[in-house]
Amino acid sequence: MAMDHTIAPFPPRLLAFGVSDASPFQDLLALADLPAGTMQRISVGELDVLLAHTDDGIVATEDRCPHMSAPLSVGELDGCIVACPLHEGRFDLRSGDPAQMPTTGGLDPDGVYHPTWTPGGRSDKPDVPGRKAEARRLTRIRRIRYFPVRIAGGRILVALPSVATD
Ligand code: FES
Repeated sequence: MAMDHTIAPFPPRLLAFGVSDASPFQDLLALADLPAGTMQRISVGELDVLLAHTDDGIVATEDRCPHMSAPLSVGELDGCIVACPLHEGRFDLRSGDPAQMPTTGGLDPDGVYHPTWTPGGRSDKPDVPGRKAEARRLTRIRRIRYFPVRIAGGRILVALPSVATD
């Protein structure tokens, strides 16, 4: 029988677009195949789902970085923080917020601008003015959005938008 503590809560306002109370739960993975501290990508149609077993339990979200869509499943999970394999962005799977802005800078979810930076204590890279710099400046990091999760019969079930399963 499922134990609720294996499912992490998420902010209700961050329910994934297209998911409602009527969305059917899909069987995505055996619970035993997602040990604590691990992540997996499961693709359903054209939707790539990230299953992460965080310190708070299992969460499901899109396997796309909220910055420029890199697969978070090949990044690193540390507690409840997932590190993107590109641009050093880190995202808190507890709150959905960025924990560290990508090196490219840009706008955070509240629209506040952050300049580009260089990791390792070196000085920040100056932005060469132009269309690319403008695109970087206006790229907004979104908050993580979540798919509801259930555990039943040793399986991880996830409610997905109907467009993913049509
Ligand atoms: S794509 Fe993830 S930090 Fe840029």
